[in-house]
Amino acid sequence: MDIKIYLSEKQKVVEDALEKLMIQAVGPFENHIQAMRYSLFVGGKRIRPILCLAAGAAVAKSANTENNLLPVACALECIHTYSLIHDDLPAMDNDDLRRGKPTNHTLFGEAGAILAGDSLLTWAFELLSSPNIGTLTPEQRLMIIHIIARAAGPHGMVGGQALDIASENTRFPFETLQTIHKNKTGVLITCSVQAGAIGAGADREQTEKLITFGNNIGLAFQIVDDLLNVTSTTEQLGKAAGSDAELGKATYPAYFGIEKTRTLAKEAIERANDALTGFNQNADPLRAIAEYVYTRSH
Ligand code: IPE
Ligand code: IPE
Ligand code: MG
Ligand code: MG
Repeated sequence: MDIKIYLSEKQKVVEDALEKLMIQAVGPFENHIQAMRYSLFVGGKRIRPILCLAAGAAVAKSANTENNLLPVACALECIHTYSLIHDDLPAMDNDDLRRGKPTNHTLFGEAGAILAGDSLLTWAFELLSSPNIGTLTPEQRLMIIHIIARAAGPHGMVGGQALDIASENTRFPFETLQTIHKNKTGVLITCSVQAGAIGAGADREQTEKLITFGNNIGLAFQIVDDLLNVTSTTEQLGKAAGSDAELGKATYPAYFGIEKTRTLAKEAIERANDALTGFNQNADPLRAIAEYVYTRSH
């Protein structure tokens, strides 16, 4: 399959759904909602929502699976976008460029960006719990809300971000580096895959394999993010290149050097693909995404 065509088709599906579901910038909070919408619609690869849809497709029993999963996919993108807005703040990574455009706080101010992030996170759960949207069963919905909440908070993404910040300019053991990467990035990617599996009615064995797949591409995704920060340009990335070294971040290239880091990313991708053994061609999009995670240029 042609991964470029697949990704651009699914990006459109996700963006159309976001456009349909996302609140409009009207009323007394118009500026605040504009700040939310700015970062959400400014671009992005939409890899987490696409993984959610692709995991669903890998185990789907009905033609409606994709539509059922779209609100979940949109909620995941909102949470991811909030994490980027906060990650770029002066108190965090202090970045001016994101998705090829000025970061949220450079346009809306620090307070505006913090609040836009707060609302994207909270609104994602409003969307997930809204009984009028989608046709998931109450059990599926509750399970999905639980795994996303767990992935986004202190046991996952925010925990990882806290450790990332605390580890700047320190000597850290490999376990710390692995814990940072798994949590700040890996866990939300795993949960995107898992949410797709749950929403599509995957059985226990399928779900476990898909979680292993997610864990490995999640880790690989952040390792490749580290690599690109060293090997790519700001223009290509749409965000600052070289910033990790400047901030003394805990990264794989800082720890292992570039070549060994590439090998470790590739090994994680191989483990991800191995986890899909036994899945038929409906899992080909997941296989192609795994390859893309390794070969991507931004
Ligand atoms: C960037 O994520 C931040 C990480 C967690 C590595 P993406 O590379 O998915 O960023 P967008 O959504 O495409 O901008
Ligand atoms: C981003 O990590 C992780 C989250 C936003 C949760 P990085 O700080 O390494 O990502 P980029 O390079 O700024 O996108
Ligand atoms: Mg960061
Ligand atoms: Mg950053």
